[in-house]
Amino acid sequence: MVNKITVIGAGNVGATVANDVAIKNLAEEVILIDIVENLAEGKALDMWESSSIWGFHSRVKGVTNDYAASKDSDIIVITAGKPRKPGMSRDDLISTNAKIVNIIATELIKYSPNAIFIVVTNPLDVMTYAVYKTVSKYVDKPRTQVFGMAGTLDVARYKAFIAEALNVSPDNIQALLMGGHGDTMVPLPRYTSIGGVPLTQLMDKETIDKIIVRTQKGGGEIVQLLGTSAWYAPGAAIMQVVEAVALNKREILPVCAYLNGEYGYKDIYIGVPVILGKNGIEKVVEIELNEEERAAFDRSAEHVKEVMKVLDDMAII
Ligand code: APR
Repeated sequence: MVNKITVIGAGNVGATVANDVAIKNLAEEVILIDIVENLAEGKALDMWESSSIWGFHSRVKGVTNDYAASKDSDIIVITAGKPRKPGMSRDDLISTNAKIVNIIATELIKYSPNAIFIVVTNPLDVMTYAVYKTVSKYVDKPRTQVFGMAGTLDVARYKAFIAEALNVSPDNIQALLMGGHGDTMVPLPRYTSIGGVPLTQLMDKETIDKIIVRTQKGGGEIVQLLGTSAWYAPGAAIMQVVEAVALNKREILPVCAYLNGEYGYKDIYIGVPVILGKNGIEKVVEIELNEEERAAFDRSAEHVKEVMKVLDDMAII
């Protein structure tokens, strides 16, 4: 258990992760912050009122735009941002959300220079880079302190689809996935097993390929059903990385990490396996990729670089 976890954005994803980390008793205090008056206060109070039923004692509190409440946070999760609206270009969304996360990170880092920052706002890889740039003005080891959550969500979806197809427990599956968060992500069947048995021995290639495509489009599938993006699985997937840090679990998990030469890339944030512990990213794990996997990862990195170009014109970066 750590002392304080702060979640920025009390929308669908932010509120869900605050609830999940409280239920898991991962911090003495869980602080929820939103820009909309009383939203965080109301949701935090609602969660706190469930504490005796769930049996947790994490004190959940909500505040409106009061960053002093985040002082001395051990872990900070940033979910704040605007959804894409009709008529808004992808570039508009990137610059709008980059400005939001930049302002928020500037406030947060003053109060918690040692916090681990977990970015969730989309487009994920580029927003994580924007937060890194802000944080790096204030701390010595920004690349260990700042990472993005996408891989644990994408892997959870991939496992859910495999479990459904094979009629096995999702909990029994080990899997890995790399690349940017979006259609170019790279699920890795060669690194997927069920109870130690390689997936490739249990499932034909055609079914595996269908599951890979469904995973890549997993976010869109929910948007089509709900008209808005997902929150239960994203909240749980954020909780998983928060837990790895809060409990210093040193788990290998896929997160959006800063590369400084690993996999042949520099100065880019993209999904790779890392060891997660109390310092955040303890180590980027470099795995062996075959030609096909390597080509898919390179395509994904090219896509992330394209999106990053929008940041080049922005004075904040
Ligand atoms: N400061 C604090 N909170 C803010 C700010 C800001 N400057 N700007 C927006 N917010 C808040 C909004 O008021 C809202 O409550 O961020 C919250 C975002 O919540 P939702 O719109 O419900 O979005 P959500 O589904 O939670 O997704 C959040 O996570 O998965 C990603 O793509 C998703 O980028 C999106 C983010």
